[in-house]
Formats: sequence, C-alpha cells, structure tokens
Amino acid sequence: MRIIIYTGKGGVGKTSVAAATALRCAAQGKKTVILSTDSAHSLSDSLEMQLSGELTPIAKNLDGIEVDIQHELETRWKEIQAYLSDFLASQGMDSVTAKEMAVFPGMELMSALFYVEDFHRDQSYDVVVMDTAPTADTLRLLAFPDTANWYFDRLFHMVRNVIKVARATVGKIISTPLPTDKFLKDLENLRVRLRYVKDLLSDPEITSVRLVVNPEKMVITETQRAYTYLCLYGYTVESIVINRVIPDELGEDYWKTKLEEQRKHLSTIDEAFSPLKTLKARLMPREVLGRKALEGLADELFGDGDPSETYSTESPMKMYDRERESVLALKLPFPLDQKLELYTRKDDLTVQLGAFKKSITLPHSMTNRRILGAEMEGMWLNIRFEGEGVGKRKGGKRPGGRKAPRKAS
Ligand SMILES: Nc1ncnc2c1ncn2[C@@H]1O[C@H](COP(=O)(O)OP(=O)(O)O)[C@@H](O)[C@H]1O
Ligand SMILES: [Mg+2]
Repeated sequence: MRIIIYTGKGGVGKTSVAAATALRCAAQGKKTVILSTDSAHSLSDSLEMQLSGELTPIAKNLDGIEVDIQHELETRWKEIQAYLSDFLASQGMDSVTAKEMAVFPGMELMSALFYVEDFHRDQSYDVVVMDTAPTADTLRLLAFPDTANWYFDRLFHMVRNVIKVARATVGKIISTPLPTDKFLKDLENLRVRLRYVKDLLSDPEITSVRLVVNPEKMVITETQRAYTYLCLYGYTVESIVINRVIPDELGEDYWKTKLEEQRKHLSTIDEAFSPLKTLKARLMPREVLGRKALEGLADELFGDGDPSETYSTESPMKMYDRERESVLALKLPFPLDQKLELYTRKDDLTVQLGAFKKSITLPHSMTNRRILGAEMEGMWLNIRFEGEGVGKRKGGKRPGGRKAPRKAS
C-alpha cells in the first residue's frame, strides 16, 4: 500500500492536487481512497459531490471520506468518551462541560490516523491519498503519534488513581465510576495502534509527503520551515508540487511584471528544494472544480505518468560508522535560523529547535554513548557518538528500535 500525503499552506491547491491524484490513480486501475483530514472539508466541493464521515464511493476504484469528529465520537470514541465524561461529572463538573472536556485534543487527529491503519491492516487499498489541513495543523497531525504518549501517560495515571482510590474504599459508597474493562483495553490499544501508524508513516517505501507550493514568497518560506520539521519528525518528503504557475504564453503587458516576479520565485524554489522531484501545474483559467477539471489538473501534473510512483525513499534519518565514531545523521534541508540543542537521557536523544522539540529513541547499540559533537554537512546534521558499532549490524533496525510494519503489497 502507498500513502501519499499532500501538505502546504492554505489555498495553494492541496485539495485539488490530492483529488486529481486520487482520480488518476483510480483511473489507472489502482484501488484508491482519498481521506480528508481538514475540518473545513472542501474535498466535497472540489469533487462536486457530497462526501461524509463514512467511506463513500466516488468513481470506479475510488472511495472518499472526510473525517468527521462528531461521527468519530459517536462510534470510535464512544466508550472512552462516555467514561471520561462520567468521570469528570463525578468530580463535580456539570454534565455539559464534562461532555465537552471528554473530547481530548487529538481524538480527531487520531481518528484520521486510525483510518490509515485500518486500510493497511485490511489491505483494502493500493493507494491512500491524504488531503490535509493547512501546514500547522498537519504538522500537528503528523507529530501526533509522538506527542500522544504524553496524553496517554496522563490518562493512565488518572485511571490508575481512580482504581487505587476505589480499592481503598471497598465497602464504602464511592461516587467515582470505575472504568470498564473495555475502557481499559481500548486505552491500551490506542498506544499499540499509534505505534503501528507511526511505523507506517515513517516507512519511506510506504509513505511519501509531497509539498504543495505556489510561486509566492510567503508560501515558499512557510513550506521551507515545514520541510525541516517534517524531516525532524522522520517523514520522507519526496517531491514538491508547484501549482498555479502562470504560463509564459500570457506574458503580455499586464502579466509581464507578474511573470518576472514568478520567474524569480520559481528559481528560488528550484534552488531551495533541489534535488526534490518537481511536479508542476499551470494556473488554470478557471477554478478547478469537478471531475473533468481535476482530470485536467492531473494531466498537467503527471502527464501519462503514475501519480503513485515513489520518487525518493531517502529517509531523513541515517546511521553509520565513521572513523571510530557512530553517526546519527538528521536531514535539515534549510539553514537553521534558531538555536539547535541536543540532549541525551538514557536511550533518548532530544532535539530542540526553538520551540520545537523532538525525542528520538536511540537503538540499543547507541545508548550510553557520549556525544562528541554535531556539525552540519550539506543538508545533514551529523551527530557524532563515541565508538563504532552502529553501522556493522545487518538488517538495519531503524531509529526507534522497532521493525517496520509488514508491507501489505
Ligand atoms: N492550478 C490551478 N489553477 C487554477 N485554480 C486552481 C488551481 N489549483 C487550485 N485552484 C483553485 O484554488 C482554490 C484553492 O484550492 P484548494 O485545492 O482548495 O487549496 P487548499 O486545499 O490548499 O486550500 C480552489 O478554488 C481551486 O479550484
Ligand atoms: Mg484543502
């Protein structure tokens, strides 16, 4: 199964490009699903057909879904939410507020990720295309498997306390509802499942992130930043889609200045994102709405090519031996404009870049080693650890120490 995630600033054309990709994959005979994680849900508008929180057939070989938090709460999260709101109400919160509080941040994000997990486990699709919210929200989504542990630790802690208090007061009347077995199992399950998704998403053979830009300065700057964060989260960014490129033929009078400006931005994109594979689409004379227009966009982007092709499988994290040192290399495609700090604790390496923090679980062979230094070399930050050993092992266990999930196809 292939997972293609389109990300970028608001309005650059993510939804259109994602829909065009999905339609083309389906037309080429691949079982395809398009999943919108943007709560604004413009996918329905783009395709000019109403989608919902449940899988809906769009065309031959193509289904679509717009993840809908209300629907998810009534199905996937029912048990957990019911317990949490009872629990909060038992602590004196009024029931309406308790119900609202029981929607913890992340349920929506997690739901989207669990669809991807389900598709992979069931092997129901060849291609999953993800149409996402503007950059910041999507970074949150993609970082979620990492940050979720924090929620779960707190949740587990809370539940454990409830059980402890309940045991201590056996025989007395207690007002706090005890978690059901199903609740406890659900909670434990969440961790396991998130780990599975995380492995799926960080496997470059399976998942590719494609950046969507327009030839405009603010868009380019935001996308450069996003690219760096995506690398730090371990996602493989494999291509850049330049959308809404004004065609040269229009270069008379009015457009002359605009075209000159665009030319400048195009060459910035070229310099900044090279050697990423580039896909391009012209600015269309009309809004890209409906299937026919989307097919036109797919022609622009892919020609006769296969949109599900993997253009690069380079992981943004590598490990190798070098002259009595082990190197953990992190791809940082742009010059850092913030202070970068590194800490190690037991088997964790924490990378802090401004307010951004990412913790990487080191493989066994690299724990308890001293960091000798860290230097940039081209696009790579090489973090040097004392002593060789990491590059010798065959089979390449990945950072994080877990095996990648089995590939479905
Ligand atoms: N290449 C293009 N030419 C002309 N209009 C486009 C093009 N790509 C997208 N659009 C239009 O731009 C608007 C925003 O596109 P959309 O795909 O919704 O962006 P996003 O999902 O990034 O917010 C829509 O009206 C869409 O039809
Ligand atoms: Mg959109």
